[in-house]
Amino acid sequence: MANQKYNIVSMILHWLIFALLVWNIAIGWGLEDMDKAAKLAAIQTHKSLGFTLLLLVIFRLAWRHIAKPPALPSTMSARDVKIAGLTHIALYAIMLGVPLLGWFMISTSSYKFPTMFWGMFQWPLLPLSGQSFSKPLHEITEFAHSKLVWVGIILVILHVAAAIKHQIIDKDGVLGRMIPFIK
Ligand code: HEM
Repeated sequence: MANQKYNIVSMILHWLIFALLVWNIAIGWGLEDMDKAAKLAAIQTHKSLGFTLLLLVIFRLAWRHIAKPPALPSTMSARDVKIAGLTHIALYAIMLGVPLLGWFMISTSSYKFPTMFWGMFQWPLLPLSGQSFSKPLHEITEFAHSKLVWVGIILVILHVAAAIKHQIIDKDGVLGRMIPFIK
């Protein structure tokens, strides 16, 4: 059965965001083992990547609104279509939520390191510092920022497992909808 594919812009965004997420998670996890100078530089890259991802995901959602995704194979059960839809909504929420929490986190931090966006300009902080709630908010957002990444990783594992199941067991072409050269 021939399936419609996502358009090329959606495919590029899907795989570019995937690559940048892997890069940024690797930086985040590597921070603890770095010396101070390396850590400061890595944090700048981590924050620039995070804000780049935030902009890319907003653009991706706007693009999805303009260029609607192709309909799923008619062979998929209503339950599976629902699960796929909910998983995608959750993945988008996490892709937005993690950088937004990071933004809250740096905006409530008592360290006032400016965020230089790829060394080009200073990314603004949210007006949240110096308030009575700043410290607890910082602790909550720091916790949520790192834990939400783990929720995302678990969802991505399920998402990839579903894509593999569609490819090997169902043979319904779902994987090829997101990869240009696969049927
Ligand atoms: C090896 C890794 C991955 C594979 C094989 C994969 C595969 C796919 C496939 C086949 C689709 C199309 C599903 C459909 O037809 O409805 C899709 C869509 C999607 N993927 Fe992935 N994916 C991977 C990684 C990721 C990651 C890391 C994220 C985000 C954290 C992600 C988020 C999404 C979202 C949100 C959609 C829905 C697109 C839309 O309709 O707007 N994927 N993926």
